[in-house]
Amino acid sequence: MSQALYRKWRPHLWGQVVGQEHVVQTLQNAIRGGRVGHAYLFAGPRGTGKTTSARLLAKAVNCLAKELKDRPCDHCDHCQAVNDGRFLDLIEIDAASNTSVDDVRDLREKINFSPSQGRFKVYIIDEVHMLSTAAFNALLKTLEEPPPHAIFILATTEVHKIPATVLSRCQRHEFRRIPLHLIVSHLKELAEQEKINVDEEALTLIARQATGSMRDAISLLDQLASSGIQITLETAQTVLGTATSQMVVELVDTVLQRDPASGLVCIHRALDSGSDPRQFARQVVDYLRNLLLVRLGNADQVDATAEQRTSMAKQAQSFEKEHLLETLKLFNGAASEVRSGWQPGLPLELALAHAIGWREELTAAPEKIQPAATQPTGGILKRTPPASESSAAQTPVPAATPQADAEEARPAARSVAAEAAGDDPPAAEGHPTPAGIRDNWAKIRAVVKRKQPMIEALLNSCKSVELREGVLQLSFGSPVLKAKMEKDDNLQIVTSAVKQVLGWDIPVTCIDATTKGGQMQSNSDVDADGMVNAALNLGGKIVQKE
Ligand SMILES: Nc1ncnc2c1ncn2[C@@H]1O[C@H](COP(=O)(O)OP(=O)(O)OP(=O)(O)O)[C@@H](O)[C@H]1O
Ligand SMILES: [Mg+2]
Ligand SMILES: [Zn+2]
Repeated sequence: MSQALYRKWRPHLWGQVVGQEHVVQTLQNAIRGGRVGHAYLFAGPRGTGKTTSARLLAKAVNCLAKELKDRPCDHCDHCQAVNDGRFLDLIEIDAASNTSVDDVRDLREKINFSPSQGRFKVYIIDEVHMLSTAAFNALLKTLEEPPPHAIFILATTEVHKIPATVLSRCQRHEFRRIPLHLIVSHLKELAEQEKINVDEEALTLIARQATGSMRDAISLLDQLASSGIQITLETAQTVLGTATSQMVVELVDTVLQRDPASGLVCIHRALDSGSDPRQFARQVVDYLRNLLLVRLGNADQVDATAEQRTSMAKQAQSFEKEHLLETLKLFNGAASEVRSGWQPGLPLELALAHAIGWREELTAAPEKIQPAATQPTGGILKRTPPASESSAAQTPVPAATPQADAEEARPAARSVAAEAAGDDPPAAEGHPTPAGIRDNWAKIRAVVKRKQPMIEALLNSCKSVELREGVLQLSFGSPVLKAKMEKDDNLQIVTSAVKQVLGWDIPVTCIDATTKGGQMQSNSDVDADGMVNAALNLGGKIVQKE
């Protein structure tokens, strides 16, 4: 696998660090004046240059360049060794995985040995707020009397979690979010050198999404560039904006419905389509914050289209106040916790589990979970199956796609379930069936992606995929997306992908799920969004009204 762009573009010289002049200037002055301290704390939002600057400092204090002002030079043996990660006197510790007091004791024992290669042994302790209290105390002893050859650089995104005793022994430097225009110009230079074809408006959108984090900005560009096609504003919007924001809305819906299975499907779909877990968690937080603003009567402060506002208003009202605040806090926690560890999606999954009130369903496989609408509803409703119903009808059938899985409890996904359950005559072998589409949807998308990555990105925002009377119906949550999908021969490409994978020649159409025609019919005297109507749409009948 090729190296991630943001790693490749880690600044090697002070002059390449963008937007942190106040920090860089002070550190450079210290090096020039030979007044480098023994303990530093670099605090600030993620992806703003803390680890980068810590390495630059480590390089500078050990650089072999003659003039102090030229350090680090990036050419000498020591600078090169740091760049290649083989400099013995630079010790990087990830406090997130070495939290115990033993780890710190181990460090204290080794610290008394003189540097083996350079002038200084430099310890970079990343995510230092993760250390246990005992480990902090052990660290404190070292910080009180550091050997003259040792320099500590502690880095953290959560400075408020660092004990005052530790803070008071460090020189503190605050890293700031990088301003939008600086991110844009940095991305521009990077794109030119990497030969990435990208429009300036797209860069601005990317930079805006990165909210001051250069790493996020570069990762997003990397993600978009992987398709190899020209990145226009439209592509960027589709891939970064609309596609993910649709998933955010759906995830919040699953929280509202306390439907863990669909929620998990939503998260996995977002991550599978290339979203960075932190980025996704932050989008969820931004969205929930908007709901909070709407709920508090400050809808004017929300930056959204009219259409988004309508859906936000609806969701905001459906939330219990406490539940909204709690959910916001939980996902906010996930947004700052998610690290690229061995289970990057875990904090998101945990936030979801807590937000829905941790129910035992979570441990069951998503397929086994009864859609909410088919669960017993206390005697008012009784399901009266059609006479022809097969045994399949008793088991909820997963809908055609992971997206549709997420929709399962909702009326819109009904037709696949209904068709597969036998409400319609069963399809003869070799003929198009919902199950066939469902089982092969990932393959179909892969074929589409090979032909036209943009179309696959659009399919990503599809709310459900249903087979209705031999026609494959894609439903979208907005007229804009629907129109985009219908443009040119996009639908034809999907048709041919289905044909390639399954051998079925079926027409493909689009509907706009937000219009009347796109929604399921509702019974006039029940709440259109309520559980009763959903149950009716699944074949339930009202046998007794209170
Ligand atoms: N100020 C900056 N100027 C130029 N590039 C930057 C800057 N900040 C971050 N980057 C880019 O982002 C990558 C990651 O940055 P770095 O590891 O320094 O972030 P960090 O602040 O330590 O983040 P975290 O808190 O997540 O550890 C770098 O390799 C570089 O490509
Ligand atoms: Mg870092
Ligand atoms: Zn050097």
